[in-house]
Order: sequence, then structure tokens, then C-alpha cells
Amino acid sequence: MKGVILAGGLGTRLHPLTRVTNKHLLPVWDKPMIHYPIRCLVAAGIDDILLVTGGNAAGDFLKLLGNGKEFGLKHLNYTYQEGEGGIAEALGLAEHFAEGEKICVVLGDNIIERNIKKAADDFRAGDGGAKILLKEVPDPERFGVAELDGDQVISIVEKPKDPKTNLAVIGIYMYDPWVFQIIRDLEPSERGELEITDVNNAYIREGRMSYQILDGWWTDAGTFGSLHRASNMVYEGGANRVD
Ligand code: DAU
Repeated sequence: MKGVILAGGLGTRLHPLTRVTNKHLLPVWDKPMIHYPIRCLVAAGIDDILLVTGGNAAGDFLKLLGNGKEFGLKHLNYTYQEGEGGIAEALGLAEHFAEGEKICVVLGDNIIERNIKKAADDFRAGDGGAKILLKEVPDPERFGVAELDGDQVISIVEKPKDPKTNLAVIGIYMYDPWVFQIIRDLEPSERGELEITDVNNAYIREGRMSYQILDGWWTDAGTFGSLHRASNMVYEGGANRVD
């Protein structure tokens, strides 16, 4: 299984911090934000990785990361998203890289305490479809929110005003190659983006979506509050633990 990190977009919720640099280059405690999703994939045994970037300071990723030697990688792949057409648009740019293999996608501003090795191994061994990871949160209205019926996910609503559950869909997704067909057929949402939640709901409609509850803490880092919280959580407990 290959890995894709989505680090495009304009990060406007963090203005003025992101007026001249890219959100994923900002510090989270003692490392640039982009280090965490790379370590997340490497800890899951994924070493063929594409970084999709865009917006400001895209060239700085190359200076910072090079070929990924400090993460134990031999090589890192890069591509560029123009504008801010949405998470699913950014993922669509990974089609030629995926070459028909399964992929594990990590949003560049998502940080986890532990690791996704078991979920990734299960998905690698399974017969395709998609897998999402869920986490109970106190503020589900900020995220995609999943509704379950037994062991099935029956729907995901993006940032609902009145969430039916407190189960956030975290920004780590596993897909088979059908994902690129779904993305080609997507229409932009009201906010003008191709939404990852629409991709996930397409898998749910086909009965091809599974889920796991994430162990340990998870946070995004795309707002002032969550960026601050992310730094504190990493300081207190470290991230991407493999024990
Ligand atoms: O953090 C998890 C949440 O991420 C999910 O629960 C939501 O369902 C999902 O839509 C997403 O919500 P956000 O509104 O927080 O996503 P945001 O626009 O902040 O984008 C998250 C990352 O995705 C960002 O750090 C880089 C990447 N991205 C985003 C956009 C809009 C791109 O690469 N390109 C883009 O055009």
C-alpha cells in the first residue's frame, strides 16, 4: 500500500501566520507540522509516499524534507495542487502515483498519539473498499461526523450544525483504486470544494466502507485553538508512538 499526504490548500483559518508560508511548515511543538503525517505513514510500514502540496512556499518542502532520509525513506514524491479545490481534488492528483495500488491518505494537519499499523495491515490484507478511522470528540460540529448501525457506517455528514453522534471522521483514510473514479464524478459542494466526505459516502452507498476506532489522542492543527492544543499534546505525550 502506498501513502499520500495532502498538504495543499491555503490555510486561511490561520491568517496571518499562513500569508507567506504554508500551514504544514508551521511548528507543532518542536517539529514542522508536516513531520507528523510522514511519521504516521512510516510507522504503519508505508514507505512509498507522495506529498501533495500547494499554496505558499511549496518549494520549501523540498528544502525541509529532501528525499525523506531522516524518516528512513530512500525517496519522496511531490506534486502541486493549484488553488484550493478541496481535499478530494488534491487526492485526485495522486492517481498516476497510485498505479492501481491501495492507498493510505493522511491530511497534513492531522496528528495522532499512537499509530495506525493494525488498521493499515487489516486493510492491506482485505479485499478493497475503503476504511475510515473514528474518534469520539467533544466538538463534532467541526468535523465529518459518522453515524453507525452496529458494525456499519451508514452516513457521514460534513460539519453538521446538529451532529447525530460525537464520532469524528479523522483525516486518515484508506482506499482501493475505485476512489479515483469517484473523484472524477464528484460535483463541488456549496463551499466550492470537492469533499472527501462525498467520496466516503459513495463507498458507504455501495456497502464497501469499514471503520475502526482510533486508539490514543488525535487532533487537527488547522485553527489557532487546535494548533495550540496540538503543540501541547505533543509536548506532554509525544506523537506517533509505536509501542
Ligand atoms: O481533520 C479531519 C477533518 O478534515 C475531517 O473530519 C473532515 O471531514 C474533512 O473535511 C477535513 O475538514 P477540514 O475543514 O478541517 O479540512 P481543511 O480544509 O482544514 O483541510 C485539511 C487538510 O487537507 C489541509 O491541512 C491540507 C489538505 N487540503 C485541503 C484542501 C481544502 C489540500 O491538500 N487541498 C485542499 O484544497
